[in-house]
Amino acid sequence: MNTKTWAERYAGCDCVSGTEASTFLREHLHWLPRGNALDVAMGEGRNSALLVKNGFDVLGVEREPIAIERARARCGEGLQALQLDLEAGWRPEPQAYELVVVINYLQRDLFESLQDALKPGGALIYESRTVGNFALQSNELLRVFPKLRVAAYREWDNRASFLGFR
Ligand SMILES: C[S@@+](CC[C@H](N)C(=O)[O-])C[C@H]1O[C@@H](n2cnc3c(N)ncnc32)[C@H](O)[C@@H]1O
Repeated sequence: MNTKTWAERYAGCDCVSGTEASTFLREHLHWLPRGNALDVAMGEGRNSALLVKNGFDVLGVEREPIAIERARARCGEGLQALQLDLEAGWRPEPQAYELVVVINYLQRDLFESLQDALKPGGALIYESRTVGNFALQSNELLRVFPKLRVAAYREWDNRASFLGFR
């Protein structure tokens, strides 16, 4: 088990999560309504960078300053970054986003606010692992966003990937 904190992981490596955006996000990009996007726990910005490149205005939320610095360098002006601890009670503004993205981060008490953060017609992409610590349960993502219409869902290779529209 990897017991390092995120700060230690970032300090020990130039690029922790790689440079390529999530495969599931790339596969569904053409379906996603353009506009304001929120990237929750954006890390070093591999997913935000894809969104910026494709015309989104992105707000990335992340706790680790070093990751934010790397994300800013990668994304340029299309990214606004907010440094905060998501477990300290922050919630996204309701009905503010065309797109909300959460990749490789699980915090269940955020679920309700993530669907509420979408404008009508907006999309949520949620993807995380189904094994190990902080793992999603099988079919969990199909149950926890009752306000969304499921457009795509898969469990494959120890990951669950969800796309839903409000
Ligand atoms: C596995 S990385 C995923 C990063 C990014 N979403 C990606 O797919 O490349 C998880 C990220 O969550 C961030 N994180 C963990 N706990 C957090 C918290 N309580 N508040 C904000 N960010 C947090 C970590 O710093 C790390 O950047």
